[in-house]
Amino acid sequence: MNLILMGLPGAGKGTQAERIVEKYEVPHISTGDMFRAAIKGETELGLKAKSFMDAGELVPDEVTIGIVRERLSKADCEKGFLLDGFPRTVAQAEALEDMLASMERKLDYVLNIDVPEQLLMDRLTGRRVSPTSGKTYHMIYNPPKVEGKCDVDGGELIQRDDDKPETVKKRLEVNQQQAQPLIDFYTEKGYLRTIDGDQDINKVFEDLDELLKGLN
Ligand code: AP5
Ligand code: ZN
Repeated sequence: MNLILMGLPGAGKGTQAERIVEKYEVPHISTGDMFRAAIKGETELGLKAKSFMDAGELVPDEVTIGIVRERLSKADCEKGFLLDGFPRTVAQAEALEDMLASMERKLDYVLNIDVPEQLLMDRLTGRRVSPTSGKTYHMIYNPPKVEGKCDVDGGELIQRDDDKPETVKKRLEVNQQQAQPLIDFYTEKGYLRTIDGDQDINKVFEDLDELLKGLN
């Protein structure tokens, strides 16, 4: 299955991706996770991405397209992929069309998780993540079994650098500007499926799963 998960910051892309990859065993390709890993590893890519991410801005298209092209060429993507947070601009979507054409592959769905904007600030500022297992929690909506600790490995949970209220505000603004043109792009191509993301996490997954069960 060749899938894109789309949605504003905090819509639940990462949360649902965890469940989709567990069930369907496709590689999870999150550009945000790739940039965060590069920043942590102090690589050249990390240096390029950091200032944009800290400011809540998008990383330039040429950098982002380059890392996705490289990632999709890896052997594990032969059985499919789940892109999370890419494409985020029409230029990225067009570049992805070219990549897929050269791989002789077609998208199945662009899964757009739709959440009312007023809920997103709360979701993002209450998010906590495990730097070791990568698992995502929310202090209220999806708390760990032991407060502040990851269920998988017991490690301390932290807040993402870009989840401070000032940066969240900027991220929401920047992503809102890009959202409609992308929705239009994929609606026209017939790939877009919109899922109600303002429901319990398990219910959102059930709705996604209903669509995905028909693939493979
Ligand atoms: P990225 O890491 O992709 O961030 P984002 O798009 O802002 O999305 P988030 O990860 O914040 O939200 P999510 O939808 O994954 O929500 P989650 O499941 O965690 O990108 C970070 C940065 O990298 C960008 O700002 C940009 O600088 C750069 N970047 C990345 N891709 C790029 C690209 N293509 N082009 C250019 N730049 C790029 O959930 C959020 C919270 O809500 C959690 O606490 C969760 O527990 C909770 N939650 C989830 N679902 C529910 C629910 N149904 N009910 C209640 N709570 C829920
Ligand atoms: Zn995410």
